[in-house]
Amino acid sequence: MAEAILEVRDLHKHYPLTQGILFKKQVGAVKAVDGVDFDLHQGETLGIVGESGCGKSTVAKMLVNLERPTSGSIRYKGDDITKLSPRALKAVRRNIQMVFQDPYTSLNPRMTVGDIIGEPYEIHPEVAPKGDRRRKVQDLLDVVGLNPEYINRYPHQFSGGQRQRIGIARGLALQPEIIVADEPVSALDVSVQAQVVNLLENLQTEFSLSYVFIAHDLSIVRHISDRVGVMYLGRIVEIGTDAQIYDHPTHPYTQALLSAVPVPDPEARAHRERIILTGDVPSPANIPSGCRFRTRCWKAQERCALEVPLLAVPAVYRLTDSPAKHDSACHFAEEKHVVPTEEDTGNGGEGPGGNGGNGGNGGNGAAGAEANGGAGPKPL
Ligand SMILES: Nc1ncnc2c1ncn2[C@@H]1O[C@H](COP(=O)(O)OP(=O)(O)OP(=O)(O)O)[C@@H](O)[C@H]1O
Ligand code: SF4
Ligand SMILES: [Mg+2]
Repeated sequence: MAEAILEVRDLHKHYPLTQGILFKKQVGAVKAVDGVDFDLHQGETLGIVGESGCGKSTVAKMLVNLERPTSGSIRYKGDDITKLSPRALKAVRRNIQMVFQDPYTSLNPRMTVGDIIGEPYEIHPEVAPKGDRRRKVQDLLDVVGLNPEYINRYPHQFSGGQRQRIGIARGLALQPEIIVADEPVSALDVSVQAQVVNLLENLQTEFSLSYVFIAHDLSIVRHISDRVGVMYLGRIVEIGTDAQIYDHPTHPYTQALLSAVPVPDPEARAHRERIILTGDVPSPANIPSGCRFRTRCWKAQERCALEVPLLAVPAVYRLTDSPAKHDSACHFAEEKHVVPTEEDTGNGGEGPGGNGGNGGNGGNGAAGAEANGGAGPKPL
């Protein structure tokens, strides 16, 4: 595997909750990001998925320094960018750019496309001297599939997909190494989503980019990602290659998310077991003790309320070659096929719910509690 270009360790972002008008007193904190760890390798795409409010955008903003972490580190090629001087940070920021979710609100309606894409050159004139900027911007328009003649147009003269291309061109202006794309296609029509994803893939090859790609939609993340991290309530609960996460998930939350992904093939759909999570996501100001997923987990046991599960390879898989051997923050992590494979549907495969027979998890009885089709939170 290529070397890590970004190393994120124990990253936290807590927003203080205050009370009082004159004398503000802190009465708690919204733990938007609460201990996130991951590496991004040179040239890869790391997908990050999770429900609304789990902290994805907050992670993205910290990576590009739009938010300062409460604690933790973000190392870019070995240097912790949370501790750099403003001058050193400016140089690093050039290399980590963001593409935002909403192409309608992220572009200033009063600026021409040329000014929007060329704006980063005001801060980094060394990348494009003044006389060279118009040509550079036109090159960028061409690279993202827009007519360079459109340089003097305004954002409202473009479609949603075209505006997102403008956002991508702006992200590329400083020739970054890393692009953090926060739901870059969520606001677009399905037909346009694939075009923008394809464009991102082509640009990755052309410019050797590394991506952090954030989305709700698990199928889009799979399409573009080499590895996928699943977030729940401020933490990554499972991370692995796309095949490990989609075909061999071991965390109950990942399994529930996957069981809700639309399956076009009717036969595969018939074989699929839906795991319906009941109960709301707890408030990030009031995170459950032990495992933060326990209030919605159908496998929860007493231990889950007492001990925080670490993000690590589960003990049962540590000495195996199983694809289930990847990091999962669950005391009772166990592989479960959720998205049916050809084996499951076609020729006598074991069917969804077959867990590969890993021999249980130390006699905890969790396997017996699984697959109830969404019985909701267990009383603890
Ligand atoms: N400036 C802020 N002050 C207080 N709380 C905040 C702030 N920004 C975000 N939050 C809270 O932090 C949590 C995580 O927010 P974030 O926007 O990172 O979630 P998300 O996973 O990106 O959600 P979505 O999928 O809806 O975009 C949410 O509960 C949100 O309300
Ligand atoms: S089994 Fe326990 S540790 Fe695992 S996800 Fe469920 S509540 Fe968390
Ligand atoms: Mg978000």
